[in-house]
Amino acid sequence: PAGSPQSNARAEFVVVANRLPVDLERSADGTQRWTQSPGGLVSALEPFLRSRKGAWVGWPGVPDVEVDEFTDDSLVLHPVALTSEDVRDYYEGFSNATLWPLYHDVVARPIFDRGWWESYVRVNRRFAEASAAVAGEGATVWVQDYQLQLVPSMLRELRPDLRIGFFLHIPFPPVELFMQMPWRAEIVRGLIGADLVGFHRPGGAQNFLWLARQLIGLEPSRGSVGVRSRPGMVQVGDRTVRVGAFPISIDAAGLDTLARTKAVADRAAQVRADLGNPDTILLGVDRLDYTKGIDLRLQAFHELLQEGRVKPENVTFVQLATPSRERVEHYQQMRSEIEQMVGRINGEFARVGRPVVHYLHQSVNRTELAAFFTAADVMVVTPLRDGMNLVCKEYVACRHDLGGALVLSEFAGAAAELSSAFLVNPHDLDGVKNALEQAITLDPAEGRRRMRALRRQVLTHDVDRWARSFLEALGSETAA
Ligand code: ADP
Ligand code: F6P
Repeated sequence: PAGSPQSNARAEFVVVANRLPVDLERSADGTQRWTQSPGGLVSALEPFLRSRKGAWVGWPGVPDVEVDEFTDDSLVLHPVALTSEDVRDYYEGFSNATLWPLYHDVVARPIFDRGWWESYVRVNRRFAEASAAVAGEGATVWVQDYQLQLVPSMLRELRPDLRIGFFLHIPFPPVELFMQMPWRAEIVRGLIGADLVGFHRPGGAQNFLWLARQLIGLEPSRGSVGVRSRPGMVQVGDRTVRVGAFPISIDAAGLDTLARTKAVADRAAQVRADLGNPDTILLGVDRLDYTKGIDLRLQAFHELLQEGRVKPENVTFVQLATPSRERVEHYQQMRSEIEQMVGRINGEFARVGRPVVHYLHQSVNRTELAAFFTAADVMVVTPLRDGMNLVCKEYVACRHDLGGALVLSEFAGAAAELSSAFLVNPHDLDGVKNALEQAITLDPAEGRRRMRALRRQVLTHDVDRWARSFLEALGSETAA
């Protein structure tokens, strides 16, 4: 970013998220630079917000730094500082070792720690205060994700003039699991401060409405919630809170254009050549997170090799894994398990100069990512639970050639939209193996038919449509 200081002009449209769209990276020699922040939230919201010339309130990604507000192109960034203790208790603790596993179907055991909760409350208040200072009179403030669930009510108290939206980027859990949370009523009260509470799927909205009745005695509407239209309603005093489902998406046209460039085509050919021109390239692209099922797909691949259903000289697996939440224990454990598996598979099946699994614990840029998507014959997306999963949509957006096949977990929100993928239950290892084999041996005409259907869905339901449908339901934008 340009890093130019900003005037104190108050914004009409404000996004509030745990992270800014850019992370401050400090090297050992003391130099620093800004890089794109990890994760789907930023991939989805950044292009939209840039076109809006909005303001973004968030953490710059490193503890104990005070950064003044600055502009990055047309975007005004307002950094919120976190101390090392905040990062440990609010971010790594309550957000990522309590809420993250609880909301992802308890695939790891959530830790309920009172000190972490207190930190979560304190930091949410700091974000609410920062947002209140940035938003102009009657502005729209759009609060994002599980790290900031108390902000809507805190902000409403500070600034009743604002229109406040909240969107949850991860799954909202079944009510039986949510009820484990010691501070369950506080969280529901925090969210209900918004004028519109949005989830990816109608089931999440429905669960939330049930909890609003059970935990804080509100009277929600009884009709079922639809996708985009027909939100549920709850009366809170003289306010009507809407609760709806808005499946998020990607900048599909932007990726489609990028994938058609010569730079991407050339790089894709180079990637294939560097891998030794195998018949089939399987690809996984994820943050290194235990919800993503990276271990499951490696195990499925390993068994296919052991059973001779896949030949190591013909098929290569590439796994790109962005480093994530590296100080949280669950993540450390997962990383060493995955790295052991990669070592074991290569130990058994690689030849000199020809690994069967290429594992990069690295983030790559957009052009490089589009090249990997273009080069991959089978995209393997096997989360145990995922709010949406944008990677599978990005793959589809890059396949203007109608090549490639998508193996996708039923437990990703995207499965509801991408029914022409090879849908799998990631807990059923034999099912995953069969789907991989089917995708590897797919008849090209059948592959094109499936990819055409997938592309129709992704290209007509992009992130702009998602944002507009949310903001229309929030009443801050008229129908286009
Ligand atoms: P999450 O938000 O849980 O990380 P999503 O699939 O919704 O999962 O979004 C992940 C985003 O991060 C996508 O835009 C994807 O392209 C990007 N991403 C994931 N892994 C990498 C990687 N190794 N290099 C670059 N980008 C990555
Ligand atoms: O919704 C997915 C998400 O958890 C975002 O909220 C988050 O910013 C992103 O993934 C990456 O995670 P983190 O910010 O913890 O690195």
